[in-house]
Amino acid sequence: MPRVHISQHPVMVHKMTALRNKHTPPPQFYRLVKEIGSLLAYEATAQLDLVEKVIETPLESMTGYKLAGGIGITPILRAGLGLAEGFREVLHDVQIWHLGLRRDEHTLQAMEYYNRMPHNVDFQICYVVDPMLATGGSAIDTVNILKEKGVRRISYACIIAAPYGLLKLRQAHPDIDIYIAALDERLNDYGFIVPGLGDAGDRQFGTF
Ligand code: PRP
Repeated sequence: MPRVHISQHPVMVHKMTALRNKHTPPPQFYRLVKEIGSLLAYEATAQLDLVEKVIETPLESMTGYKLAGGIGITPILRAGLGLAEGFREVLHDVQIWHLGLRRDEHTLQAMEYYNRMPHNVDFQICYVVDPMLATGGSAIDTVNILKEKGVRRISYACIIAAPYGLLKLRQAHPDIDIYIAALDERLNDYGFIVPGLGDAGDRQFGTF
């Protein structure tokens, strides 16, 4: 699929196995989500634009580079919070644009309950981050909201995707890059990704 990037990095594969393990407790799970977020951020920022910046080294002046424009990160609440922290570890100078979406347990439709997008979204890029891409509804709606707001360039990053949700997101928004740590087998009858890792929100925040 065009513009879909699935991580092949051995460190990612190693951390994913620890993340999926049902015996991994919430504190360790949250730390792993952040670390995986940093690895995803490293892969997802490979195509960012730079502008020149003149600096003084201890020896002489030189022309270096810095990232062009601003960078926004939209974590889909609440499970996206850990991933956003991982992105911040790599990028530091970012704005976090929180967006709260919740899946209705019966219809599986995503509903917006919180939105802290700023007025000025004239940034180089916004990364939508959420650990799970299941039916794709949350991701598609979030990208729709960002586009309606006027965000020019959007990428989406998740930890685990189901083939169904990935296809839906690809079809709905063919113009965005999608970064995934692992592509799983399928969705079960309850809309959970299999083999997956369970509920990423509950496992990060200990709300079982
Ligand atoms: C989960 C997950 C995604 C969404 C994925 O969130 O974190 O946001 O479901 O499903 P979709 O692709 O079918 O839309 P959930 O609704 O469980 O909320 P939470 O983040 O508060 O746990």
